[in-house]
Amino acid sequence: MKKDGYNVAVVGATGAVGNMMINVLERRSFPVKNLVLLASGRSSGRKLPFRGKDYPVDELKESSFEGLDIGLFSAGGSISAKFAPFAAKAGCVVIDNTAHFRMDPEVPLVVPEVNPEHIANYKVRNIIANPNCSTIQMLVALKPIHDVAKIKRIVVSTYQSVSGTGKDAIEEMLLQSREIARGIDWSKDDGLNKLWSGLKHFRKMDTNVYPHRIAFECLPHIDVFMPNDYTKEEMKMVWETGKILDPNIKVTATTVRVPTFFGHSESVNIETEKKISAKEAKELLGKAPGIKVLDDPSKNEYPLTALAAGEDFTLVGRIREDESIDKGLNLWVVSDNILKGAALNAVQIAEILIDRYL
Ligand code: A2P
Repeated sequence: MKKDGYNVAVVGATGAVGNMMINVLERRSFPVKNLVLLASGRSSGRKLPFRGKDYPVDELKESSFEGLDIGLFSAGGSISAKFAPFAAKAGCVVIDNTAHFRMDPEVPLVVPEVNPEHIANYKVRNIIANPNCSTIQMLVALKPIHDVAKIKRIVVSTYQSVSGTGKDAIEEMLLQSREIARGIDWSKDDGLNKLWSGLKHFRKMDTNVYPHRIAFECLPHIDVFMPNDYTKEEMKMVWETGKILDPNIKVTATTVRVPTFFGHSESVNIETEKKISAKEAKELLGKAPGIKVLDDPSKNEYPLTALAAGEDFTLVGRIREDESIDKGLNLWVVSDNILKGAALNAVQIAEILIDRYL
């Protein structure tokens, strides 16, 4: 018999993703019986609203999970590594938004529109992993195409917003942007020259979060560099695509941090085994779950981060045949990295979990 409600913990409740998890639980009327909000000791005493009531934030401890059914974790990989096993042992199913357990063969890695059936394996460890934000939106867009045309290779470049790094990164970009905007006097005749030379000066601006200034810059560097000179973010897209969609698909990625607030954009190029026209792909994606096609060049209509922010759908547009090969497509894919890329995907997993298994 189904329970009438579940005891749910949000770990990292005060962070950008944790906060959104609380919001999504409320918006989707998830059957929460009791909500437990956990963060570091620094946040003890804070309160956060849920369904019109203020809930206290408690310090995360090993003993925090007694009597809980589901734990949504988003407080960083080291916190998940240390505390998820305690939750799992206490019978609380962990849905982990960090990279820590993603490639563990005993932990399902799930995008509900792509491989919901993998959730069944949660019982082995009592942990389910939420994929990387960039992987999620790319696979939501590619799954319907893979089903009919079989994708052989993906070449993806990402344009990822600073919110993916956390609240500190948003602040850093804002402060740097303000300082630069104030430091440039555009009213003078030589404004252009001053800007050009000024940017060199601003290169030395204080940075705490990123290795270089992010305001008015693109950083081809997300997460740490690996021995093969790819970044870990790039390799996550390679590894996770294999685990979630199909290990036979070849993937190469370049991931770039850009000065946008919310929403990741991706240029996705695919080569398929079977020919699929741009028209067919548009029709297919227009009917697929979790996708909204925005693709009308005559009206300058295509996905933008401003359209994706706060939106549950992954936006897909600029759908074109790759004219350099026989069977290939180009797509522009944009999604809210905090929502579908993290909080929403986690809550959708929880919805399937309670519907089919708990
Ligand atoms: P806190 O606000 O108490 O530091 P973001 O990625 O947006 O920066 O958020 C990170 C989240 O992870 C916050 O909720 C933060 O809580 C939480 N967090 C960071 N360190 C710890 C820790 N040692 N124990 C529990 N939660 C932590």
